[in-house]
Amino acid sequence: MSIPHYFPSLGQLTKRFGTPFYLYDFTNIQQQYLKIKGAFAGRKSLIAYALKANSNLSVVQQIASLGGGADCVSLGEIKRAILAGVKPYHIIFSGVGKRKDEILEALHLNILFINVESEDELLLVEKIASSIRTEARISLRVNPNINPKTHPYISTGLNENKFGIPVQEAKRLYLYAHKSPHLKPVGIHFHIGSQLLDLEPLQEATQKISSLFHSLNAIGLELKFFDVGGGLGINYTDEKPIEPYDYAQMILKELRGTEATIICEPGRFIVGNSGYLITSVLYEKINDSKRFVIVDTAMNDLIRPTLYDAIHQIALFDSEKIIDTEILEHSHCTLADVVGPICESGDFLAKNIKLPPLKHNNLLIIKNAGAYGFTMASHYNTRPNPPEIAFNDQKKVWVIRSKERLESLWENELAYLKDKQ
Ligand code: LLP
Repeated sequence: MSIPHYFPSLGQLTKRFGTPFYLYDFTNIQQQYLKIKGAFAGRKSLIAYALKANSNLSVVQQIASLGGGADCVSLGEIKRAILAGVKPYHIIFSGVGKRKDEILEALHLNILFINVESEDELLLVEKIASSIRTEARISLRVNPNINPKTHPYISTGLNENKFGIPVQEAKRLYLYAHKSPHLKPVGIHFHIGSQLLDLEPLQEATQKISSLFHSLNAIGLELKFFDVGGGLGINYTDEKPIEPYDYAQMILKELRGTEATIICEPGRFIVGNSGYLITSVLYEKINDSKRFVIVDTAMNDLIRPTLYDAIHQIALFDSEKIIDTEILEHSHCTLADVVGPICESGDFLAKNIKLPPLKHNNLLIIKNAGAYGFTMASHYNTRPNPPEIAFNDQKKVWVIRSKERLESLWENELAYLKDKQ
C-alpha cells in the first residue's frame, strides 16, 4: 500500500506529539467502507464493522456516519459503538464468553441480535430474557468445520477451535429457540478466520451455512439475517487479497431466491491499510555481525510481529520525503532488525530488513498498522499507550486520543499505598 499524497507533515506532528503515535487516514477508512458496502449493492445489507480491529471512538464514528453498524464482543465495545453514534439496531453482540450482566444490558439496549455460541449460553439468554419479560433476538454462530488457510491463531471455523456450534447441534438449538416464548431466532452467523486470502474456503462455508439457512426457513423459522462474518485479508507485503466484488457475488449467488439481509463484519479490511505507527530511532547497535535498530515503539504498542510473525513494511521519513524501504537500493543499506526497548527478545517490529545507516531521531513509518494495532496494545514495562492522530485528504489533522499520562497507569493502585502510609 503506497502512502497517500495527502499524508501530513511528520516533522510538524512529531514536534507536537513526540513519538510514537498512531496515525489514521480517515479518507481511506471511508473509501474501504464504501467499497465493501458497494459490493453488496442492490441487496439489503448491513456492514457491521468489527470494533476489535480498531475501536477508537472517532474511527467508529466515521463508519457510523456512513450508516455502518458494529460487531461487538463485549459490553465495552457495545458502549463504545453507541457513544460513537451507531444505532442500537445496527449492533450485533458476538463472542464465546458473554457474561450475564453483559447479556442483560444488551437486551435492555435493544441491539439487533445476540450471536449465541453454545447451548449453555442459549439457555442463559432465554432465562435472562424471561426474567425481564422480553423476547431476545438471537442468531447462532455455526461452526462449519472448514480450514480457512490462515495463521492458526486467527483461524476460527474448525471444530478444534472454540468458536460456534456444530451444524447438527445448531439445527436442534434453532428448533428449541423457535419454540421458546423468550427467544426469537432472526439470523444465522459464521466466521471462519481472519486475513483470508482464498475465496474457496469462504465459499465452502457459505454453501454449508446457506443450506442450513434454507432448510430452517423451509420449516418456518423466518430467519432474516445471513451474517457472513468478517475475515477479508489485506495486502501487507505482496498478498493478493480477495476482491470485495467477487466475495459479494459468491454470497449473493448462494442466497438467490431469498430476501435475506446480508450482514458482513469486516474489521481489518476497513482499517488495516488506513493506519501507520510512527516511531523514532533511539540507537543503532551491532552485536558481533548482527545489526539492530532500536526504536521508541515496541511490542506493547504493536504486537502483531511478535504474536503472528506478521510483516509490517517500514518506510523512512527523511527531510519531508517518504522512502519505502522495500525499494531502497542504497549502496550503504544492510540488513537489520528493528527492535523496541522492551525486555524480551520477542520484542521486534521487523526482522532482516534493508536499511541505510540511521541516526538518533530518524523517523520510521510502520505501515498497515490500523487494524489490531492500538486495540491490542498493553502497558507492559509500564509504557503508556501512544496517542492516536487522524488526517484526511483535505489535509485536516485531529487528535483522536491524547497521549496517556504516565500517572494514569498506577492511579488504580494507590489506595493500598495510601492506606499504608
Ligand atoms: N467477526 C468475528 C466474529 C470475528 O471474530 C472477527 C475477528 C471479525 C468479525 C473481524 O475479522 P477481520 O475482518 O478483521 O478479519 N488479532 C488478529 C486478528 C484476530 C481476529 C479476530 N476475529 C490479527 O492481528 O491478525
